[in-house]
Amino acid sequence: MNSILARRLEASDLPLRHQWLNDPSIHGQMLVSPPVGLAETQQWFSKTLLNESRRDFVFTLDGAAPTEVVAMGGLTDIHPRHRRAELYIFVRPGMTGRGIGSRATVWLCEYGYSELDLHRIYLHTTDLNDAARRLYARLGFKDEGTLRGHAFHRGRFIDRHVQGVLRSEWRKPREEREVPG
Ligand SMILES: CC(C)(COP(=O)(O)OP(=O)(O)OC[C@H]1O[C@@H](n2cnc3c(N)ncnc32)[C@H](O)[C@@H]1OP(=O)(O)O)[C@@H](O)C(=O)NCCC(=O)NCCS
Repeated sequence: MNSILARRLEASDLPLRHQWLNDPSIHGQMLVSPPVGLAETQQWFSKTLLNESRRDFVFTLDGAAPTEVVAMGGLTDIHPRHRRAELYIFVRPGMTGRGIGSRATVWLCEYGYSELDLHRIYLHTTDLNDAARRLYARLGFKDEGTLRGHAFHRGRFIDRHVQGVLRSEWRKPREEREVPG
């Protein structure tokens, strides 16, 4: 597969983001409550521009048009003193299982550790999201526990699983966490 390129999320990406967040394959896993309105997404984006504690990106494939976005993701709750951040990622519906999520996650971790000088990157997944947990585990994230009944989502209380990778663990030789494809 072509290598993955990242750029900051722009206003012109919002219709696509809004469309994806309303897709059951994404909102079912991400504690997003549909329908998500486009105006709501635009309002959210305006606030992010002033928010120093997050960086949101879109991902494209090398050689493709910059508008052909294959994934979106970012680092949120970036904490300057504790040097930690939470990672999120979602892949274009219909394009999963091709290594895009893994590559985008590796890119975000490299960015977090080299550009932001983080010490720790962590994330949360819902109890049904085994696919995402496997992906993160393969890349070196360790299971850190379960927050039982932590969120009310689609009519029930669900567990949230925490995974994290420390800077010292991420610096292991790349071949130990090479992604397929
Ligand atoms: C979770 C998510 C990000 C994974 O993205 P993805 O692009 O499917 O991830 P990858 O393709 O890198 O890896 C997924 C699987 O495809 C396999 N795979 C990776 N590269 C591959 C390739 N080139 N060809 C075929 N299979 C491949 C992986 O081995 C993995 O297999 P597994 O399910 O047995 O572990 C995506 O499903 C998604 O957007 N889900 C909804 C939102 C979400 O849950 N986000 C996570 C919470 S923050």
